[in-house]
Amino acid sequence: MNKIPKHVGIIMDGNGRWATEQGLKRSAGHKEGGKTLEKLAKHAKNLGIKILSVYAFSTDNFKRSKEEVDYLMNLLIYYFNEKLETICKEGIKVVFSGRREPLRKDVLMAMDSIVKKTKDNKECILNICLNYGGQEEIVDAIVKVHEDITAGKIDKNELNRENFFKYLYQDLPPIDLLIRTGREHRLSNFMLYQSYYAEIYFTDTYFPDFLEKEFDEAIDYYENRDRRFGNVK
Ligand code: FPP
Repeated sequence: MNKIPKHVGIIMDGNGRWATEQGLKRSAGHKEGGKTLEKLAKHAKNLGIKILSVYAFSTDNFKRSKEEVDYLMNLLIYYFNEKLETICKEGIKVVFSGRREPLRKDVLMAMDSIVKKTKDNKECILNICLNYGGQEEIVDAIVKVHEDITAGKIDKNELNRENFFKYLYQDLPPIDLLIRTGREHRLSNFMLYQSYYAEIYFTDTYFPDFLEKEFDEAIDYYENRDRRFGNVK
């Protein structure tokens, strides 16, 4: 049996379908998804999970209607300014992964402010992937590696799969358990480097309905996997 996972990732999918199936606007699903995330962040911390990485907005999500993108950006600002602060009183440190361009200035300000407010928190890290793409992260890391090699900070022979992590947006340990809600079975460009040996839990449940009880089921699933890391027993 495995111990509680150190790093859990969640692809929070199904907000839009949750809403439309009830005759509501897609935005209502994102709002409800925000409430679910708030509950899960507290719950994960109480279970002793050290890092929770969540996919809030991908680089490809900019292809959605301006109305939906604007709604999501305003919802994120609301959370960073009002709601997450409450979560952070629980000792959760917020960090972000993703590119800053072309995020709106008010979004960037709200992000910077929550990072600053929570920087000394020690209980658990909430890594919010915003304007994030896993392939983009690897490409951006390679640019940083190139800069360090050119500046003589690292020799190309010293680079390996472990120290490459420090060139990613956040230097976090690999994902142990990756959860995807909302029925699809794909990675959608989420934390590709960090998920190299992740156990994957797929569920049909839409993210707004993915509450503490089913989160515990995902943890049980993880605890019962046989993790051999390429070895044999
Ligand atoms: C995917 O569902 C979800 C998103 C693109 C947004 C996730 C955002 C939140 C949960 C809001 C709160 C977040 C934070 C960090 C406070 P979808 O719209 O693709 O759903 P669909 O597949 O049913 O259309």
